[in-house]
Amino acid sequence: MSAQDEAKKTAGRLVINDFIEDGMVLGLGSGTTSHFFVRELGLRVAQGLRVTCTTTSRSTTAVAEEVGIAVTDIDQIDRIDLTIDGPDEIDRQFRMIKGGGACLLWEKIVAHASSRMITICDETKIVDRLGRFPLPVEVVQFGWTHSVRAIEEILGSHGVPTIRTSRRMRDGRPVITDSGHFIIDCHCEAIGDPEGLEIALNQIPGVVENGLFTRESAGMVVGRLDGTGYVKM
Ligand code: 5RP
Repeated sequence: MSAQDEAKKTAGRLVINDFIEDGMVLGLGSGTTSHFFVRELGLRVAQGLRVTCTTTSRSTTAVAEEVGIAVTDIDQIDRIDLTIDGPDEIDRQFRMIKGGGACLLWEKIVAHASSRMITICDETKIVDRLGRFPLPVEVVQFGWTHSVRAIEEILGSHGVPTIRTSRRMRDGRPVITDSGHFIIDCHCEAIGDPEGLEIALNQIPGVVENGLFTRESAGMVVGRLDGTGYVKM
């Protein structure tokens, strides 16, 4: 296993030890970091930890069930105590880009249904400025080319939007999200005003949500490549 994967695992272990208590209602994030965490949580559940869990993607539901964690539909839950999720990039104010795995819509809904969200990551995800990672925007399929034009107008010379196609299938077909939408990746390099851009993109008819999470995360639990980890709140 690579040092980066070990660091992801470290973050998952640390967040369980420091923040998860018996009886909690948890939101389980998506992506490889979250999946390491879910596998570790499965071990704790097997040892007797009692938690109620809902997920941010079908892929996380599959991992949770594989490791013996029962998954409750989000609409059967009044309030989530704590959501644990990973970023594609996070800055020192805990603002993030998410959606590299195309799960940003459910991730944002679950984060907003939670009393608290804590981000887990390896140290390579921490940046001074958001934007090198392409910003995903989820759009409905109907009229998507017009949504892209509206995104282009907002980005101006600061970014180029492209539709995400399946790298795994290599057939050039668009990636379809768990809610049946397309993902438009915005290649920006640097985002000067993440809060403003998050709001502006969501004003476009056809845009369902975007991957800027500027006010959700209460802190981060970080795994370092040297095997140590730390919490920053
Ligand atoms: C999925 C996400 C993921 O949380 C994000 O892409 C991080 O993934 P990984 O832990 O594999 O780097 O936002 O939509």
